[in-house]
Amino acid sequence: MSSLTLDVETVTQKKHKRLAQWVEESAQLCKPDRTHWCDGSHDEYQSMLRLMILAGTAIPLAEDKRPNSILVRSNPADVARVEDRTFICARTKDEAGPTNNWEDPAKMKEKLKGLYTGAMTGRTMYVIPYSMGPIGSPIANIGVEITDSPYVVANMHIMARVGTRVLDVLGEDGEFVRGLHSVGAPLGPNDADTPWPNNATDKYICHFPDTREIWSYGSGYGGNALLGKKCHALRIASVQARDEGWMAEHMLILKMTSPAGQVKYITGAFPSACGKTNLAMLIPTIPGWKVETVGDDIAWMKFGADGRLYAINPEHGFFGVAPGTSMKSNKNAMLTATRNSIFTNCAMTPDGDIWWEAMTDQKPPELIDWLRRPWTPESARRAAHPNARFTTPASQCPVIAPEWEDPKGVPIDAILFGGRRAGVVPLVTEALTWQHGTFLGATVSSETTAAAAGKVGQLRRDPMAMLPFCGYNMGDYFAHYLKIGARPGAKLPKIYYVNWFRTDENGKFLWPGYGENSRVLKWIFERCEGKVHAVDTPIGRLPEPVDLDTKGLDLPPATIEKLLSVDVNGWLAEVPLIREHFAKFGSHLPEGLNREVNELEERLKKAKK
Ligand code: OXD
Ligand code: MN
Repeated sequence: MSSLTLDVETVTQKKHKRLAQWVEESAQLCKPDRTHWCDGSHDEYQSMLRLMILAGTAIPLAEDKRPNSILVRSNPADVARVEDRTFICARTKDEAGPTNNWEDPAKMKEKLKGLYTGAMTGRTMYVIPYSMGPIGSPIANIGVEITDSPYVVANMHIMARVGTRVLDVLGEDGEFVRGLHSVGAPLGPNDADTPWPNNATDKYICHFPDTREIWSYGSGYGGNALLGKKCHALRIASVQARDEGWMAEHMLILKMTSPAGQVKYITGAFPSACGKTNLAMLIPTIPGWKVETVGDDIAWMKFGADGRLYAINPEHGFFGVAPGTSMKSNKNAMLTATRNSIFTNCAMTPDGDIWWEAMTDQKPPELIDWLRRPWTPESARRAAHPNARFTTPASQCPVIAPEWEDPKGVPIDAILFGGRRAGVVPLVTEALTWQHGTFLGATVSSETTAAAAGKVGQLRRDPMAMLPFCGYNMGDYFAHYLKIGARPGAKLPKIYYVNWFRTDENGKFLWPGYGENSRVLKWIFERCEGKVHAVDTPIGRLPEPVDLDTKGLDLPPATIEKLLSVDVNGWLAEVPLIREHFAKFGSHLPEGLNREVNELEERLKKAKK
């Protein structure tokens, strides 16, 4: 595509009648000035950047600092996922369950149709065919996003495989998830556009699981607008996975290689902004061990013929939380985002680079902050928004595993669950069984972060880190886990519960985290190989301090003891909280999880005697 006139029609897209018809209907409803079918080319990506630069949405960064990269600052009212505006419009409220907002699908569509009427006036409607997962992989899935945002098009180019090659796979009658997105800011004939159009009064992120549709209105930010990610790859895919016997999870995927050259693949579910990207790209501090990245946010897992679960990363890039990312905390993420990247809500340096909190030890003397105002270290505000992001191609990651695009996926040996817990939860616990592991996942609790609009630092239950992402009744989701575990011939991964965030009386972290987490991964690796033993405790199996490799780590034995001990009273106090959490699911809670909480209580009481 060489100009800003974007009316392109390929022969291929016309072949798929249902797709062509839906695009036509959407155009009639939203009344864009023109329609552009995205071909996924490099030229198309570049023209989106140019368009955003000309419109004042983006600033090009200095070529000698971050080649081919831009900075975008959003409207301050549109900076994160809006969970209270996110709906699962299943047939009944019961199907959506107690943790999701629900509205009747027909009613919601009526309401949204009103909002979408003429919503794209003055704008271009882009049609983005995308594949979540390597094109043609048996685990991959196709979607088409219609959007009026060039920012979304550019981000989707990085985050998914997009364009004509996807239409080729779709053929004349392939199934696809339909995603309709509008920023909800039509333009009259002489209206000037704003740098970040969005709708100040109405935001709706709606999912129609039965018809595999997503209707998103009013926000242009991240998971609200890049529909392949949370909306498709988690909320809609979790329903598909339930129906078809596989798993769509909010999990990183990493590859770990021992000094002897043995390989294990590990997935990990942690709530948003709890360090999944850091763990996926970790640089081990223990000699001879290697970690490589397969994915940092989402895993789709299907059983292979050998009974093992094989995972793909359905994404093609990283949409990482910027603040806190540095050469110390995540060198590989920093090296990934050196070029061809989109930075959102970061601050800008006078020489045309970006900056965010904790990127460097020394704060720069002057910046333009994410609110477009002059900033100095004396300023009382943060320079970057706490949910500022980098969008960057996964292929640029220096430690991307060579097999990250293998269509058959990678066989998973261990699954980690974890959250941010200042107390009670030990550094690592191995589940006794798959059902016990499901129980551990179902009870994950974590302090809230800036990834979602709302209060930060409040403790909430976030089962399997899927609270904002499960597309159906979470009680049934737990039952699906148990069903996966009961599949005849299944060779299941072991399950672990980890907590890097335990603090002492003064609020100081007990465990150093980051690269040192490789020590915990090593124990897990060796457990999977049957090489080290574990101690049975009332809450699961824990390492003995001698089995956790702490060589070279300056940690007092008492701290290690504390990290690996069971706080019986603390856990007894958790039991009623877990029961209260489970009670929400009523008859949808599988009996197996009730049994687990009862057995946990019994084991704890016995230990107390
Ligand atoms: C994300 C999130 O963006 O979980 O990955 O919020
Ligand atoms: Mn996430």
